[in-house]
Amino acid sequence: MSRICVVGGGGYVGLGYAVALADLGHNVVGLDIAAERVAALNRGESPLFEPGLTELLAGNLAAGRLRFTVDYAEAVPPADFVFLCTGTPSLADGEADLRQVRAAAAAVGAHLATGRRTIVVNKSTMPVGSAELVAGIVAEHAPAGAEFRVVSNPEFLREGRVVHDILHPDRVVLGADDDAAAAAVSALYAPLGAPVLVTDHRSAEMIKYAANAFLATKISFINEVARLCERLGADVKTVAEGMGLDPRIGPRFLHAGLGFGGSCFPKDVGALTRMADDAGMHPGLLRAVLEINAEARRRFVQRAHKLLGGLDGRVVAVWGLAFKEDTDDLRDSPSLAVIEMLLERGAVVRAHDPEAMPNAAPRLPAVRLCGSPEEAAVGADAVLVCTPWPRFREVDLAAVAASMRGDLLLDGRNYLDPAVAAAAGLRYEGVGRGHLRADAVPARPPVVAAEGRGPR
Ligand SMILES: NC(=O)c1ccc[n+]([C@@H]2O[C@H](COP(=O)([O-])OP(=O)(O)OC[C@H]3O[C@@H](n4cnc5c(N)ncnc54)[C@H](O)[C@@H]3O)[C@@H](O)[C@H]2O)c1
Repeated sequence: MSRICVVGGGGYVGLGYAVALADLGHNVVGLDIAAERVAALNRGESPLFEPGLTELLAGNLAAGRLRFTVDYAEAVPPADFVFLCTGTPSLADGEADLRQVRAAAAAVGAHLATGRRTIVVNKSTMPVGSAELVAGIVAEHAPAGAEFRVVSNPEFLREGRVVHDILHPDRVVLGADDDAAAAAVSALYAPLGAPVLVTDHRSAEMIKYAANAFLATKISFINEVARLCERLGADVKTVAEGMGLDPRIGPRFLHAGLGFGGSCFPKDVGALTRMADDAGMHPGLLRAVLEINAEARRRFVQRAHKLLGGLDGRVVAVWGLAFKEDTDDLRDSPSLAVIEMLLERGAVVRAHDPEAMPNAAPRLPAVRLCGSPEEAAVGADAVLVCTPWPRFREVDLAAVAASMRGDLLLDGRNYLDPAVAAAAGLRYEGVGRGHLRADAVPARPPVVAAEGRGPR
């Protein structure tokens, strides 16, 4: 079994890896600069909500295979592997902010042991070319005689399924210029039985960006189709179902609604766009993906505005704050963008989220956070569904309708059943559900091809 240091071990990816690698039997130290997180983790308290994480944390702390520290001098020297899992957020212009990575790489370098080889595993999502950058920074700070190799190992886990996805990966991608280092990292993953793709650093780094950009494109694609469906009287849910039955397309990431958010898709598509710009390319498709995504949020608020006859003074209940279900992560959450626009237009906003309210409270001083979706709806003119939490499907919509001042249910995730909502006395509207819209363009008779001009 190996000795592993996970840098950024208090974050979503780092904590997931720290507990999962310990669970596989390795001796793991999670290293993080956030001292409060480290203290909480050593008490067995997870600072973030992820299904199954707390149990694995407690079990591996108790087994003595896992601990957390803020001290590089304690964590790095004995490690066979150092996983770099620090954040790579976006700068204002879309470029990846590598400050956390640079600081971590410098500190790792400075604390490398001499006389033995350490493998630095780049798990953070970093622009193409970053493996060389990290290797350069580590080398610059390393003591004479320290030997190390860098292996790029991009991560594909989904928040809300962190533990599951780490322990059941679809694939493991390794970028390396040293076969032995790649083989050593590959061996760590061997018990998981996933296919391993070994390639060069730059291709590995690009795989991560291209995969996220592709998934984001699927979402923006179906949102573009949703706009057409609204106009032409079709139902995007059925359209997506019919498309998804084609195995070349598949049903996933074809959910029309408020679009993508979170800590990865927006920043990774933005960073790839920036990389393309810097390379003198014209990333037209990527730009369209981002623009359609931003537009989905604006259109949703415009729709609320229209259906309520204005938003000034309207009481709006927002169901869901996290960027998706099963997480408490608010980073680039569509719901927060919607709330900001609602407040700008004078709405009174009440909100509920099953897990994200502690994170949301400091960010939403002007919003009344309520203990349940039902409580948020009391006296509201409209309920806006912004995150598809299963809890919202358990709500008694008739009781909600009776407690509201108005009757609008605007479903930004096409998550609730329009028939159930209508039976409860609510005016339901989703996204791209043109078959339910009175203002769709009336169907036109088929055009008969003129003589001599056959169908094209
Ligand atoms: N969150 C996801 O779903 C996901 C999925 C795949 C890939 N990724 C990538 O993984 C990386 C980490 O993402 P995350 O969501 O876990 O970020 P995060 O912000 O949750 O965690 C980063 C952690 O690093 C710590 N940190 C910052 N600087 C440090 C330093 N110098 N030394 C030690 N610790 C330091 C922070 O305190 C924090 O706990 C990013 O590059 C992200 O793009 C994330």
